[in-house]
Amino acid sequence: MKDLLRTADLSRADVDLLLNTAAEFAKNPLRSQDCLKNKSVAIYMTKPSTRTRLSSETAVAHLGGTPIFIRGDELQLGRGETIADTAKIISGYCDALIIRTFAQSDVDELGANASIPVINALTDDDHPTQLLADWLTIRETFGSDIKDRKFVYLGDGNNMSHAWLTMGAIMGAHVVAATPDGKWAPSADVVAQAKKIAEKTGATIEVTNDPESAAKGASVLYTDVWMSMGDPEAERAEKIKVLAPFAVTDNLMALTEKDSIFMHCLPAHRGEEVAASVIDGPKSVIWREAYHRRTTIQALLYHLTRGELAGN
Ligand code: CP
Ligand code: NVA
Repeated sequence: MKDLLRTADLSRADVDLLLNTAAEFAKNPLRSQDCLKNKSVAIYMTKPSTRTRLSSETAVAHLGGTPIFIRGDELQLGRGETIADTAKIISGYCDALIIRTFAQSDVDELGANASIPVINALTDDDHPTQLLADWLTIRETFGSDIKDRKFVYLGDGNNMSHAWLTMGAIMGAHVVAATPDGKWAPSADVVAQAKKIAEKTGATIEVTNDPESAAKGASVLYTDVWMSMGDPEAERAEKIKVLAPFAVTDNLMALTEKDSIFMHCLPAHRGEEVAASVIDGPKSVIWREAYHRRTTIQALLYHLTRGELAGN
């Protein structure tokens, strides 16, 4: 496996390896200080980022390399140079490329034309690196025996809902996406793909429009912003109204298991997709989850640049 272009690229063995290594990096961030010595990693983002940018830059630094951050408007790509040419040029200077942008097809094209590893750091369709941090946090909380546990995403059927269903399928988990029907439901293709993976891993994939039945007996309630980067502002009022029943409130948390946790990829909007009392309450693991963005990206760079991931 050369690139991580989408969550579905990962096998269960890859995820286990990455999480084990990330747990080591959590204990000792500098244990592989020579991995990227005299090497550089380009981080190109056409959308804003706090966590992914900073955790990527610090991960590269901890591996002994130099991160080169490039804003969306800073490459000739914005002036008509092709993705294929850009991929070849970056491959000549750098040892990996981390990219955050809108179209998944742009990331796929970069991966196809670059000779170096390309990592998807969020597209409109997916957010694979976030899910590595999420599953390390889940594993730290519940251990590896997740039989009889239910992992529930609530809210917009967006990139995070896709990544949630796909990674849950890979992990053999019972995962649920509780979203409105129609425009803001997860893509039918992603749900079908998750179900296909589940046939092999024993996962259960559930999509529902009932937030209360989803929350009942859950081990995790996960949510994300209702307006994602690039979502049309004209739809804001309608979208917020439709999504209101999916907000993670104390009432919804009360339906979950005794040892349940609340997760959020962040940034969060308190009072919108989650109540302040939940996200800042005792069940919230958001800071640990955010911390693991670095440990898991560090593990990903470590194994991908050494050619140690098998992929699917
Ligand atoms: N969770 C996440 O990807 O955050 P950023 O947008 O701040 O990188
Ligand atoms: N769905 C959100 C995730 C942010 C990390 C977005 O794409 O903006």
